[in-house]
Amino acid sequence: MEIDVFTLFPEWFQWFSAQRHVRNALVAGTSIQCVNFREHTPLSGGQVDDTPFGGGAGMVLRVDVLEAALRARYDADPVELRKRRRVIALAPGGRLLDDRLVDELAGEPALTLLCGRYEGFDERIVEHFASDVVSIGRYVLSGGELAAMVLCDAVFRKLPGALGHEESAAQESFSAALEGHPEYPHYTRPAEYRGWRVPEVLLSGHHGRIEEWRSARSRERGAAAEGPREP
Ligand SMILES: C[S@@+](CC[C@H](N)C(=O)[O-])C[C@H]1O[C@@H](n2cnc3c(N)ncnc32)[C@H](O)[C@@H]1O
Repeated sequence: MEIDVFTLFPEWFQWFSAQRHVRNALVAGTSIQCVNFREHTPLSGGQVDDTPFGGGAGMVLRVDVLEAALRARYDADPVELRKRRRVIALAPGGRLLDDRLVDELAGEPALTLLCGRYEGFDERIVEHFASDVVSIGRYVLSGGELAAMVLCDAVFRKLPGALGHEESAAQESFSAALEGHPEYPHYTRPAEYRGWRVPEVLLSGHHGRIEEWRSARSRERGAAAEGPREP
């Protein structure tokens, strides 16, 4: 998979790319390239943003600046680009990133992530250049960089080779193996601590009963996470 991140802060991704599972994904053939759109601005003085029409606080990322950066990278009209490549604008109000969307994105050969800053994007970037608008949660971050890392982290876990031998994404929270429910609780030694005893079934060595117990806890957690039903 080839991931391009358009950002004003490419140095943030140096730390991210050095993390073990990210490095594993990179060794296994994934790439992350950062494009600093300030380096491609057609405006003088490295300008990338401007004041909002209609007034109001903050600065808005300019559509001509994003177009120049996308053209420099892909040598293509961004309006056409999004027909052949997922171009994702990160925004608090976008489609919420969940396991289903992560699975969908992990199946793509290439992703382009657009990280906003300040007040965000001129809406024409979202309307004409992006194929998707994705949010990592209903809260506002200072920029799209952390959101891009969250998305990449979740996607990389799904790629072959990203996790070590002992780990597996096959039976994680929300996986098909757990019927979409959160994962069951885990315990390790000591079997008793301050009077808190590990559930006996986990010490029984009886695999069938352990599986049953885990699947019941996972379903319970799923029901609890959904909260009480409307009467
Ligand atoms: C300060 S935010 C802009 C917030 C915008 N004025 C609003 O009220 O929706 C700057 C940038 O951070 C990114 N961002 C902030 N929160 C995010 C979230 N929850 N999910 C994805 N991206 C987010 C977006 O790229 C956004 O353009």
